[in-house]
Amino acid sequence: MAKPFSDQGVLEAWTQNALPWTHAVREKRIASRTRVTDDAIVQTALSWAPQQGAILDLGCGEGWLCRALVSQAPDRALCLFGIDAVAALVEAARAAGGATFQLLEYRQLASERPQWLPPLDLVISNFALIGDADVAAALGALPALLVPGGQVVIQTLHPLMACGELPYQDGWREGSWQGCGSGFAEAAPWYFRTLSGWLTLLRDSGLRLLATREPLHPDTGKPASLILIATPEA
Ligand SMILES: C[S@@+](CC[C@H](N)C(=O)[O-])C[C@H]1O[C@@H](n2cnc3c(N)ncnc32)[C@H](O)[C@@H]1O
Repeated sequence: MAKPFSDQGVLEAWTQNALPWTHAVREKRIASRTRVTDDAIVQTALSWAPQQGAILDLGCGEGWLCRALVSQAPDRALCLFGIDAVAALVEAARAAGGATFQLLEYRQLASERPQWLPPLDLVISNFALIGDADVAAALGALPALLVPGGQVVIQTLHPLMACGELPYQDGWREGSWQGCGSGFAEAAPWYFRTLSGWLTLLRDSGLRLLATREPLHPDTGKPASLILIATPEA
């Protein structure tokens, strides 16, 4: 049965699909990632990351992004943290190393300030802001977790490309594992956001947009993702 259109439905689906997702990422099965978006988030994160400081990967999954940042910036003294709501993904991330990975739901970032988390210079999130109210809770918690002048880098589906045939308006959508390989159970529902939906969400979270990037797919010339860079309102 399809997962309900809710933040809880998102977590249930990702819990059920942790193993095939780990294989899909580690075996580089998702072409858009290997061709465009992995490098786009790594390069964008490194261009905003300090020489030394603390970085949090929000919805880190099996942890590839923290490992990539460590290996691509060996000269920097970065202290990396990752959180995710799915225990099997956090365990896979811990086993591979590269950062401190903790089991934590987004809404817990808002309700309890984790004591193990130092003031953050940068928060990154790669295709992990999937839900509705839970995502708003996480983003709303960030200004209090960041150092003054800290930044948030979000990579997400490009609204124009992801909209498809449905109306261009914020709302829940059915997910799909198309292009991710085999072994998956029910797809996770996801909350579609228009460009203005994202900008409103950032503003309501106390974040000010600094820059955007739209990495292009080399075959189609169309955007493979949308990257938003924001900072807490002064
Ligand atoms: C598409 S995966 C991306 C994982 C990773 N960022 C990557 O680039 O491979 C989405 C991730 O968001 C996590 N996630 C979704 N909703 C969450 C929530 N409310 N709290 C914590 N993690 C969540 C899922 O468990 C999953 O690991």
